[in-house]
Amino acid sequence: MQHSFQPIDTELLEFNPFTKIGKDWMLITAGDEKKANTMTASWGGVGVLWGKNVVYIFVRESRYTKEFIDNGDSFSLTFFDKNFSKSGLKYLGAVSGRDEDKIKNANMSVDYYDDVPYIDEGNVVFICKKLSETKIEKEQFIDSDIDEKWYKDGNYHTMYVGEITQILAR
Ligand SMILES: Cc1cc2nc3c(=O)[nH]c(=O)nc-3n(C[C@H](O)[C@H](O)[C@H](O)COP(=O)(O)O)c2cc1C
Repeated sequence: MQHSFQPIDTELLEFNPFTKIGKDWMLITAGDEKKANTMTASWGGVGVLWGKNVVYIFVRESRYTKEFIDNGDSFSLTFFDKNFSKSGLKYLGAVSGRDEDKIKNANMSVDYYDDVPYIDEGNVVFICKKLSETKIEKEQFIDSDIDEKWYKDGNYHTMYVGEITQILAR
């Protein structure tokens, strides 16, 4: 049986960002009690900024999830055990919530903490409050290879900085 999520202190978190984000992947979830959406992400970071513990996420203009992030004050990041099957995460990172009920079709479910949606199948959740959004633009690159390599189609990322207001763990 799976334990239920409990709020934990930041000091107790064991978290290698390179593994947890880059290799195991995360789900970015936003929305409200009526409708939420989620997408897989493997780029981003955690750190300290403006006197707060924060996350940095990067969401391309075309993502349906971006509309939910933009329309609300909060979002969540759900992290998974390294042994968790990647099939659902691949699915949520390939189809759009615009086209179907993709959370259901990926055999996942939404739960809420303080009205912020997160994905219940994870084992660690960051509840985050939006602090800033910054559109990435061509002119910002010092290494011009990045623009050529990642943004040929003009589908730029927006970087959101979110304050981690609560960590939940099983
Ligand atoms: C492993 C993996 C990592 C991804 N990382 C990101 C990311 O960091 N930022 C992003 O905008 N899209 C990323 N994507 C793509 C989105 O998850 C994908 O476009 C998704 O279908 C968007 O769904 P939506 O339209 O319902 O928001 C990633 C996809 C995969 C499979």
